[in-house]
Amino acid sequence: MSMHAGLSADRQKGGHAGLMDQVYQRQRYIYDFTRKYYLFGRDSLIGSLALQPGESLVEIGCGTARNLIAIARAYPGVRLFGLDASEAMLKTARQQVRRAGLEDRILLVQGLAEAMAPATFGQAEFDHVLFSYSLSMIPDWRGAIAAAANSLSDQGRLHIVDFGDLKTMPGRGIIRGWLSLFHVSPLETLLHTLEEEVNEADEGLKILPGRYAFRLSAAKGTLGAFACGQTDTARG
Ligand SMILES: C[S@@+](CC[C@H](N)C(=O)[O-])C[C@H]1O[C@@H](n2cnc3c(N)ncnc32)[C@H](O)[C@@H]1O
Repeated sequence: MSMHAGLSADRQKGGHAGLMDQVYQRQRYIYDFTRKYYLFGRDSLIGSLALQPGESLVEIGCGTARNLIAIARAYPGVRLFGLDASEAMLKTARQQVRRAGLEDRILLVQGLAEAMAPATFGQAEFDHVLFSYSLSMIPDWRGAIAAAANSLSDQGRLHIVDFGDLKTMPGRGIIRGWLSLFHVSPLETLLHTLEEEVNEADEGLKILPGRYAFRLSAAKGTLGAFACGQTDTARG
């Protein structure tokens, strides 16, 4: 299943969607193989989701659909949706979903995170929203979190896995320089706010060694600080 939503791909070409297409035009062929060596925490987050049959989950910035396919296999009966800015990336995602025989379980749509709404997928709301290493590529990440929060049911949950501030990571300067080649900016402000606002034990904020990455599973109610914060394009 696939469709276009929100702004047309053509209108977005000069903007962020066009940039993502440039980044992933060739990378998509080696993406899954190479990223398993440095996008840590994705599988442990998927393992901890505890999704129930009948629930819905949308992944924002779903890339090659690697996570959605893993989630579909781990959680039968869950309805899955994927949004990505890059039509190039979605091309690979559609191929992989087809190959996995999951076309009837995963609906893929091209669009921007900041403009995402459940209606984009013909839904009223979602039970879960997942950002996996996508927020650090989204200039208006606050807007993306706000859109995600607005799309969640009252009992809904937000899940994030992304780069940390790398503060205690050896070679962090080199890693940061390398990530910037891919237009990735680790979201220090987000992580520091989460550390202040979210109760680590209750809300499942986990920080990986070296503060390389973090993962979070939080109830919609705890999102206020981020969803209602100023929408800006400042990174950090
Ligand atoms: C590093 S990849 C992560 C892919 C996948 N989530 C994973 O864990 O393998 C980031 C993805 O986010 C997408 N992306 C970046 N900015 C976006 C935006 N503003 N709206 C929607 N998707 C975006 C990119 O096109 C890319 O596919």
